[in-house]
Amino acid sequence: MTFPVHRPRRLRQSPAVRRLMRETHLAPSQLVLPAFVREGIAEPVEISSMPGVRQHTLDSLRRAAVEAAEAGVGGIMLFGVPAVRDAVGSGADDPEGILNVAVSALASEVGDALVVQADLCLDEFTDHGHCGVLTPDGGVDNDATLERYAAMALAQARAGATLLGLSGMMDGQVAAVREALESEGFVDAIVMAYSAKYAGAFYGPFREAVDSQLKGDRRTYQMDPGNAREGVREAVIDVEEGADIVMVKPALPYLDVLADVRAAVDVPVWAYQVSGEYAMIEAASANGWIDRRGAIEESLLGIRRAGADAILTYWAVEAARWLR
Ligand code: PBG
Repeated sequence: MTFPVHRPRRLRQSPAVRRLMRETHLAPSQLVLPAFVREGIAEPVEISSMPGVRQHTLDSLRRAAVEAAEAGVGGIMLFGVPAVRDAVGSGADDPEGILNVAVSALASEVGDALVVQADLCLDEFTDHGHCGVLTPDGGVDNDATLERYAAMALAQARAGATLLGLSGMMDGQVAAVREALESEGFVDAIVMAYSAKYAGAFYGPFREAVDSQLKGDRRTYQMDPGNAREGVREAVIDVEEGADIVMVKPALPYLDVLADVRAAVDVPVWAYQVSGEYAMIEAASANGWIDRRGAIEESLLGIRRAGADAILTYWAVEAARWLR
C-alpha cells in the first residue's frame, strides 16, 4: 500500500496541537480604536451605516476611551466632526477646535494607558470636504496644504497627542510635519503616515460618520486601486521623510500591498480595517449570512498574517475582550 509521504494533518489533530502550531497571533495591544467626536451635540449619535459605532460627545468619548484602556487596546485614533467648516479648515489648528480639545482631554485622562492619536487631515474641517485647500480652479493645492498640515501638527502636539496620523496623501506631508514639530521641540511626536491609501468605495460609511461635505472623489491624491508598486514607493518615500510608522489602507482588499510594504521597510507597518470593511461584516451578520465573530477574528488574523504590526479597527474593544 502506498501512503502519503507528507501528512500535514498531523499538526491539526487537536485544539492543543493547533494552538501550539499557530504561526500568527493577535494581541489586544495591537489594536487601535478609531473614534469620532462631534462638536455641539448633547447625546451620542448612532451612525446608521456602522451599527454599533457612534459620534461621541466629549463625555461619551472619555468613557469609551476608559473602556478601551480597560480592554487592553493599544491606542485610540481620534477624528473630529466640527460644528462649523470653512474653505481652509480653520477648526483643525484652532486649540479650541473639537479634535484638539478631545486630544487634550484624553491625553490627561487615559494618556498613560492608551496611545492617544489624532487624525491629521483637513477633510473633516473644510466646507468642500477635500483633504486640502483648493486652487482657484477647484484642484487640491498640494504645497499650500502642507502649510495647513504643519499648523495642524503643532496644534495636535500642543494638545498632547502622542501620535499624529497623516491621512491626507499630499506629497511631502511627512517632511513638512516633521520639520514643524522639530522646530518647536516636539521631538517625541510619533508620525504615522497613511502611506498607501487607496481611493475607492470602502470609505462610504466613514463619510456618514464625519458628515462629509465631499462632492466628487479624491483620485488626484489617493491611490489607484490597481497599483501595488506605487504603494511600496509611497511607503519608502515616507520613511525617508521621517515617518516612524507607515500604513496601508483599506486592509482586506490590499493584503498584497501590505505584504510588499512589510518586506520593503523596517519600520512598523499598520493597516486600517476601514468603515466599509466593518459595514460588510456587520450587514452580513445582521442578516444571518455569516458568523460574525468568526469573520471578524479571521479578518484581523489575515491582516496580521499579511504583515500588519497593528490594526486600526472599529471592533478593537470587542476583539480585545475576546482575546483576553
Ligand atoms: C480622511 C480619512 C478617511 C478615512 C480615514 N481618514 C476618509 C477618506 O479618505 O475619504 C476613512 C476611514 C474609514 O473608512 O473607516 N481623513
